[in-house]
Amino acid sequence: QVSNLDMDAAEKGGYEHFMLKEIHEQPTAVKTTISPRINNGMPDLSECGLTPEMLKNYRKFFIVACGTAMHAGMVGKYVIEKLARTEVTVDIASEFRYRDPIVTSEDLVIVISQSGETADTKAALHLAHEKGAKVLAVVNVKGSSIAREADMVLYTHAGPEISVASTKAFSVQMAVMYLLAYEMAYAKGTITEEECRRLTAELQKIPEMIEKTMECEDRCKYVASKLITATSLLYIGRGLDYTLSMEGSLKLKEISYIHSESYAAGELKHGTISLVTDGMPVIGVATQSDLLEKTVSNIMEVKSRGAFTITVCKEGTEFSEGVMDEVIEVPVLEDILMPLITVIPLQLVAYYTTVLKGLNVDKPRNLAKSVTVE
Ligand code: G6P
Repeated sequence: QVSNLDMDAAEKGGYEHFMLKEIHEQPTAVKTTISPRINNGMPDLSECGLTPEMLKNYRKFFIVACGTAMHAGMVGKYVIEKLARTEVTVDIASEFRYRDPIVTSEDLVIVISQSGETADTKAALHLAHEKGAKVLAVVNVKGSSIAREADMVLYTHAGPEISVASTKAFSVQMAVMYLLAYEMAYAKGTITEEECRRLTAELQKIPEMIEKTMECEDRCKYVASKLITATSLLYIGRGLDYTLSMEGSLKLKEISYIHSESYAAGELKHGTISLVTDGMPVIGVATQSDLLEKTVSNIMEVKSRGAFTITVCKEGTEFSEGVMDEVIEVPVLEDILMPLITVIPLQLVAYYTTVLKGLNVDKPRNLAKSVTVE
């Protein structure tokens, strides 16, 4: 006879919690999501009816989502703008639906949702349709409302995500954003075929690089042990690192109940730095080479005000002595791809902080996996 306890352990694949299982499923999830969309070394999203010609002709691009999915959209904006030189507006769905956005029938509205059932995201889709725009949905749950109502669907293949805190869904949403950016940039002629092939090949290495990044797990657990008594902390970064700071901060606060804010590192001095007192943890995300010096100088500013500084950076990054209390290193990839692996330590730190505090990791209070009411 199989006991409930055995059933539970089997469902979690030997992991203590769904969240940890799902964190470790990310290499497979990303691989399964990108492989079918790479044809002969080039990105190919034609399965959903989206052609390079269409991508070239849309007037404007909007990305609309909630929570973690919105953060994937922020990464998407950055990557699309960088490569395709096309402006992308990112909106929180609950804002988009009420701000009378300037959307026309010539635009593409991209909605991102793990569940495909989030009420605000669904309402944003309806609004886009009312305004005559086409909607492309990036959705994980097959046959969900958003998938059914959108004009085009790109499914992420993360498999079921049980933990309320989203992890593998975020990674696959980002992966789809990269494919979209590559295809768009090539269609618009802002990157050459050779560059597009190179970037696509690099993306195909991501599952293996995520696996390698998991080597920081013990380090993250150690860093987590330093956070459990904190009552408030800050995540700071610039550019792509800022988008990851937002996701890191959300992950930590939703499950560990420690108050945390993410801030654009350069904006700290306009108010938030007054919160920094002795021993306050500040997590700096500093993976972008061209911004490294700037972010480090912001970390030095908080350090000199007593902060306990933790930095997530590329392996081998050197800092002046005494600036970083703790460092979590991740493998070295080209800057633009760093979010795909930088998210791993951020997820692990949130996970272990919560476990060490003895809280319910998979089902945090007041939160639902899918928010189907406004
Ligand atoms: C809820 C979940 C979040 C998620 C958000 C959007 O708040 O707790 O983890 O990011 O909804 O969900 P969706 O299913 O639309 O991606």
